Amino acid sequence: MRINKKILLVTILCGVSVFAQSFIQKHDDEKAKNLKVLPKDISGKELHEIMRGYSMALGVRCNFCHVSEQVEGQEKPKFDFASDNKPEKTIARDMMKMTAAINEKYIGKMVGGDHTLEQITCVTCHMGRKTPIITVDSLKKPQ
Ligand code: HEC
Ligand code: HEC
Repeated sequence: MRINKKILLVTILCGVSVFAQSFIQKHDDEKAKNLKVLPKDISGKELHEIMRGYSMALGVRCNFCHVSEQVEGQEKPKFDFASDNKPEKTIARDMMKMTAAINEKYIGKMVGGDHTLEQITCVTCHMGRKTPIITVDSLKKPQ
């Protein structure tokens, strides 16, 4: 009898974990429908890491670039990630192309002596801000 209970418990736990895993899997495997710059076969996990990177680089949340609406009685907003209706997303696409071009056409072709030159990313300019600092006026003056 005791053993049966244990088996039952293990069976339930396995069931719960399989259910949870399939849920996570589904979320990660959901195919992106509207990628124009990133590779279309990118994994969900990789895509989310890149998106988290953009958010951190600009100091924003997903809704800065993605259309979302608040649903009554629901804590989290509902996102339409494939939509291009926010201009910030379109600007971000151009920024992605610009960043890649700077790396490929310029930094990648510089002769940097013995050291390998670093490539730039969004954070290089944005430093956690929506708008990068574009004048030196806000910086501390050298003594
Ligand atoms: C700075 C702007 C920006 C931020 C912030 C951002 N994204 Fe994105 N996101 C984009 C751009 C641009 C694309 C389209 C890339 C392309 O065309 O290759 C995209 C595409 C996506 C897609 C694919 C949609 C589809 O079906 O084509 C998903 C999913 C996504 N983002 C999720 C997120 C999540 C989750 C966050 C927050 C953690 C986030 N994004 C934050 C700019 C952003
Ligand atoms: C070489 C510097 C540089 C790099 C690299 C760069 N940006 Fe930008 N970004 C700018 C400048 C400059 C602006 C315009 C600021 C303004 O309008 O005053 C800007 C503006 C933006 C805006 C519009 C912000 C707003 O307030 O509407 C978005 C979105 C953005 N960048 C996303 C990105 C993303 C995503 C990346 C990386 C893929 C990136 N940027 C890389 C310099 C850069």
